[in-house]
Amino acid sequence: MLGSLLHAEAADGGVALDFNLYMQGKYVYERNCIVCHGPRGDGNGELSPTLKPKPRSFREGMFKFRTTPYGMLPTDADLRRTITHGLSGTAMGMFGHLQADEVEAVIAYVKSFSRRWKKRENHADALNFSPPPEWFKAADTLKTHAQAGQKLFGVNCAACHGEKADGKGPAAVSLKDVWGAPAAPSDLRQAHLRCGDSPADIFRVLATGLNGTPMVSFEATLNEEQRWDIIAYILSIRLPSGPVL
Ligand code: HEC
Ligand code: HEC
Repeated sequence: MLGSLLHAEAADGGVALDFNLYMQGKYVYERNCIVCHGPRGDGNGELSPTLKPKPRSFREGMFKFRTTPYGMLPTDADLRRTITHGLSGTAMGMFGHLQADEVEAVIAYVKSFSRRWKKRENHADALNFSPPPEWFKAADTLKTHAQAGQKLFGVNCAACHGEKADGKGPAAVSLKDVWGAPAAPSDLRQAHLRCGDSPADIFRVLATGLNGTPMVSFEATLNEEQRWDIIAYILSIRLPSGPVL
């Protein structure tokens, strides 16, 4: 069994790492993650050259899929979700076979790659997200809101994601992420997004943004009603199965 799962207070007031957890995490990482994320956690594992998107480098401490405000580190629950559910449409599969303590350990190990984890000011609690409004449940009101959402999408999202939400907006070709790779705006018509498939999953991305990418938070620019309208529009054009090639 594991020692304490709690992170002790380090002498400098930062967040220290539990050594036993770290060693167990290293073992889990070497068996399950190293082929892609690499021995140094820089995303340059053996399989890396063949993959798009590339496996994440953990060295910058930038994570896309979170419940925390833009720019902040993810919570353990966020990392747990990524590891156990995987990221649809990428090489990052689900690690459902790992025991709960193995997941906790590998999370601790992933954190050891970046100094950002040591600083309290980079940590934040999960945001509170309101549930979808009542009108989301009725087909006719959903349609009216989707029409309003289409207009908002044209103004706020189409430059990158394209008028048809197929990921081919005029700005798309020039976008880069902090890892120096081209950042491709997602085809939002896909049946399965990396962030998840429910309206709440998309709402979360609009609130948190995807750290390290041009997909910023719309928390300040769109009110909640406008965000749900846009989500109603995205759902109305969702393809029945995978992306059209
Ligand atoms: C077959 C390759 C592969 C393996 C094996 C793999 N990953 Fe990944 N992982 C990826 C790719 C590719 C991405 C980047 C996806 C993206 O940027 O959308 C990723 C991203 C991540 C992220 C970042 C998520 C975010 O919010 O930005 C975490 C955390 C992660 N992987 C953890 C792990 C852990 C832990 C393991 C082992 C238990 C593992 N991965 C094994 C390919 C892999
Ligand atoms: C400046 C360009 C830009 C704008 C404007 C923009 N996005 Fe994005 N968006 C991106 C990029 C790039 C990604 C993929 C990031 C990555 O993983 O590297 C993305 C990803 C997403 C995702 C995650 C999809 C997944 O695969 O999980 C959602 C949802 C999303 N955008 C919705 C929107 C909506 C809705 C708007 C308008 C309110 C919007 N975006 C505006 C560039 C943009």
